[in-house]
Amino acid sequence: MNLFDFLEQQDDQWPAVISQLLPRVHTVDRDALRIWFGVWPLPWHALAHNPASRPQFEKYYQVNGNYRLINQVDTSHRFLYGHRYWGPVKSAIGAASGEQHLMATVEQIALASKAPLEFGLGMAAIGLMTLRQVGWEAWGTPPDSAVTNAVTAHRHSPEAVLRARASDYSPSLAERLRGKRSTPRVVCDEQAADGWFPLIPSQHITTAAELDKRPHHLSDPRCYEGMGIIPVDCRSGACGTCWVGILGGQENLSEITPFERQRMDYFGYFDAPGLDSGSSRPLLRLACQAQAFGSVSMVIPPWNAVWGKSRRERAGQDATITL
Ligand code: FES
Repeated sequence: MNLFDFLEQQDDQWPAVISQLLPRVHTVDRDALRIWFGVWPLPWHALAHNPASRPQFEKYYQVNGNYRLINQVDTSHRFLYGHRYWGPVKSAIGAASGEQHLMATVEQIALASKAPLEFGLGMAAIGLMTLRQVGWEAWGTPPDSAVTNAVTAHRHSPEAVLRARASDYSPSLAERLRGKRSTPRVVCDEQAADGWFPLIPSQHITTAAELDKRPHHLSDPRCYEGMGIIPVDCRSGACGTCWVGILGGQENLSEITPFERQRMDYFGYFDAPGLDSGSSRPLLRLACQAQAFGSVSMVIPPWNAVWGKSRRERAGQDATITL
């Protein structure tokens, strides 16, 4: 059977597949994998894939940013260590068919890619979910591994990445001689040497981000000039713009409050399998509500929306509109 046709029949299998996969995925990518599935859940795809009127859809659900996976087939998973194996995994998916159940298909693709299984499995799952959402037409050819590696600055071992994750900034010898001290920080791009901003412990993450005056609005139009790398619109939990995925340092964050949890649920950000949304420090947070008491490493999703109302509409709790 054509792999895409097969995947269309497997939607209800994903929660079980993700929970079976997680223990077999390298620790460095375990939370990253859950965050990826949290940023690109199937219910969001179902809603955003083909509205009758895209402008009306974006206005109604207050959608901002690069919210379609179809535009990011080769890059959406860049924050995973396993991203370096995307080329071979994508090739293996291109040659696969859908004859077995979903878990067996993930395993078959991971093996065929020849990537180490602890990375190949997660990337195969991401690849299959990507294909499920974008279809063959937008799938494209596998990128050359040199191209993939050019954006993969995880040049150290996974263990070294784990050790460095959510670590304080450590100044060089020359900087120390000039009196610079180590400082807590928020890392928002683990793959860029300067992908972080300093933190004064107990600050809300967006408050710390605001002190970083680099021109982040040039790379993400959702950002305001001089207001930091995290897009914000309200700083009060009202808009849902500032959601982030926490890769490391969850323990350094304040516990989620009933208000933040209620807002995350309202925005729709907890509508994905594999998220520990009931935990006191879940993987997805509102950066304007979470206080950081030590270094944190995180991912900024490329889009935001208030789409939890689609769930309530389906349940008949809100008036439905046709888009
Ligand atoms: S900035 Fe609006 S919810 Fe955080």
